[in-house]
Amino acid sequence: MLKTIRYAAFALIAVIAAGWGVVWLRGGGVAQLGLDNIGLSMPGGVTLGGPFTLVDTTGATVTDATYRGSWMLIYFGFTYCPDVCPTELQTVSTALDRLGPLATKIAPIFITIDPERDTPAALAEYVKLFDQRLIGLTGTQDQITAAARAFRVYHARANSKDATGYLMDHSSFVYLVGPDGTFRALFRQGMAPQEMADALKTRLSAGG
Ligand code: NI
Repeated sequence: MLKTIRYAAFALIAVIAAGWGVVWLRGGGVAQLGLDNIGLSMPGGVTLGGPFTLVDTTGATVTDATYRGSWMLIYFGFTYCPDVCPTELQTVSTALDRLGPLATKIAPIFITIDPERDTPAALAEYVKLFDQRLIGLTGTQDQITAAARAFRVYHARANSKDATGYLMDHSSFVYLVGPDGTFRALFRQGMAPQEMADALKTRLSAGG
């Protein structure tokens, strides 16, 4: 099972890497790498995004349609994540700050891949540490699995000898979805906040 998951993760990384390769070739080099333009068609007909049904921090059921009309900037992670998630969420927050008034068009969303521990209440506490605008979403394991599958998010409980808890392995990309609900861009992990802000500005200015 673990081997299968690892293979699937590797395959996904290969597909995404191939997508970036296309962007690289079309965009003329490093300046374009990972900025956007992955587009709806990934190599091999792979698509990203789609409908989801989840639960917000008040316990209310929400769907992708709840945020229609806004751009969704989505990141999948978990609140116990020691480093990657906090860094990426800080990047999203800073990028929104640098966007100025345009940021009001964006619904920044953090979807947990660890619903067992990330209850609505736990998520509410967590997201406000980063940004008051940040929307935390959880759900049943099935709801989370479906949402993660739509965005091709790799996630699995990590092997840990630590009796006090567990960590989750997960892929780390920030997804931009248009006001019409279609996938628009994928931002790689470790992108500088200004770079993300610039890419968002380009996308938002081009319209919905
Ligand atoms: Ni993480």
